[in-house]
Amino acid sequence: MKTFEAVFLDRGATKPLQVQLQQHLRNLIQSGKLSAGKALPSTRSLSVQLNISRNTVVTAYEQLISEAYLEARPRSGIYVSSALSQFSSERVVRTQRKPRAPSVVEDSTLLPPVPFRPCQPDVSLFPLALWNRYRGRVVRRDGLKLLQYNEHSAMGLRALRENIATYLRDGRGVKCDWRQIAITSGSQHAIFLLAHVLLKSGKKVYLEDPDYNGTKRIMNLFGAGIISGQVDEQGLRPPLAKDQPISFVYVTPSRQFPTGATLSLPRRLELIQEAAKTNTWIVEDDYDSDFRYRAAPLPSLQSLDTNDKVIYVGTFSKVLFPSLRMGYIALPKALLEDFLRVKYAVDQYGHFIEQATLSAFIENGALHSHIGRCKRHYAQRQEVFLESAARLGLPLDFRYKDGGMNLTGFLQPGMDDQECSKMLSDAGLDIPPLSSFSIKRSEPGLVFGFTAFGPQKICSSLECVAQVARRW
Ligand SMILES: Cc1ncc(COP(=O)(O)O)c(C=O)c1O
Repeated sequence: MKTFEAVFLDRGATKPLQVQLQQHLRNLIQSGKLSAGKALPSTRSLSVQLNISRNTVVTAYEQLISEAYLEARPRSGIYVSSALSQFSSERVVRTQRKPRAPSVVEDSTLLPPVPFRPCQPDVSLFPLALWNRYRGRVVRRDGLKLLQYNEHSAMGLRALRENIATYLRDGRGVKCDWRQIAITSGSQHAIFLLAHVLLKSGKKVYLEDPDYNGTKRIMNLFGAGIISGQVDEQGLRPPLAKDQPISFVYVTPSRQFPTGATLSLPRRLELIQEAAKTNTWIVEDDYDSDFRYRAAPLPSLQSLDTNDKVIYVGTFSKVLFPSLRMGYIALPKALLEDFLRVKYAVDQYGHFIEQATLSAFIENGALHSHIGRCKRHYAQRQEVFLESAARLGLPLDFRYKDGGMNLTGFLQPGMDDQECSKMLSDAGLDIPPLSSFSIKRSEPGLVFGFTAFGPQKICSSLECVAQVARRW
């Protein structure tokens, strides 16, 4: 049989002869040189032809029968499996050599955001190839260590905690040592863990109204009493004596979510003073403060606090990408033990490969460069958004526009923002009403995210908004 004359077996190789023979036979079948239904030489004849033991041929044939490449026909011999006949030789080659990876997710669950879904970074700007290079490097260097349980790293890998402490000290004025940094699976997880630590029976939480719905969801889960804190152009009004006792105040001082107002300096000082007086914790959620377009980010609330009552929470969801699930907390020393107890009970370990990758990403300046690149794009998108909105004469007042990922357009008092949002949704847009974030009260308005959409998409989508708005 000519086909087998080309089979060369290397007797000096470390790979056993039976494995080499299997590989040759597999290749012959995959390339179509041995087609479905074709008879193979008997084990005796092939062993003579190739000058190898008969056992070697038997073992190779048996392996390929188990893989369904070959089939044994009783009293007849060994044949290339007839089941392969449904494939043309070309398709066999393609299917076998380059199996199509099945999708691991349902397509319908992974759609890109629709304009103007709030809080969405443009993930297409993320330098995935660079990230993968760092990831490959840390796995090659520290792979086995990173794959293990490590009960001493419940708060996160030391290198990452050190890099985050430096990043926060330099960029946000946060006063902390790396030992005060805890790594969490995003800031939502951080707030959940903090609720475990801070909520005390009989005490309530003081939330901004309107507020980030994720925080309300956690408080409802814990059955915590919620006090609605009024938000105006100076940000959150600090709690009054009648609101006490309060376990903690949750606040987004750099950019109030979702209105976009910045907490004024007098309010910051008042909040800190009151917290010290009433022994109340403050949770500062600094979710997108890196995106301040015409000036450096504001110093954190935590940097003003001399009483160690502010717990600083941050996330990489916005500056990198949300599915990374990486956030952090800068904890006051007095809370370290209690927090570690909760973290250790819920989740002793971390995603060490991702943590090590992120640490290298920060240390090598890639985070800094990526934030710079995003800021350039997002600043331009914000400008395009505001110019288009003005040109189209949208009946919306965009009051707070120094940065961030969203622009809240306030409607005329008395308007029904739910109805406006519903009409926009019917036109294929995703623009939530301000009231969907409120606890008790909010002015009517619509929350537009602009960062995930290119300038053209922003313009065409705003034209659609303008058409709908004519019917309000
Ligand atoms: C104010 C605020 N805090 C926290 C989060 C949650 O972010 P993460 O993805 O880190 O859980 C969000 C998400 O949009 C947010 O808007």
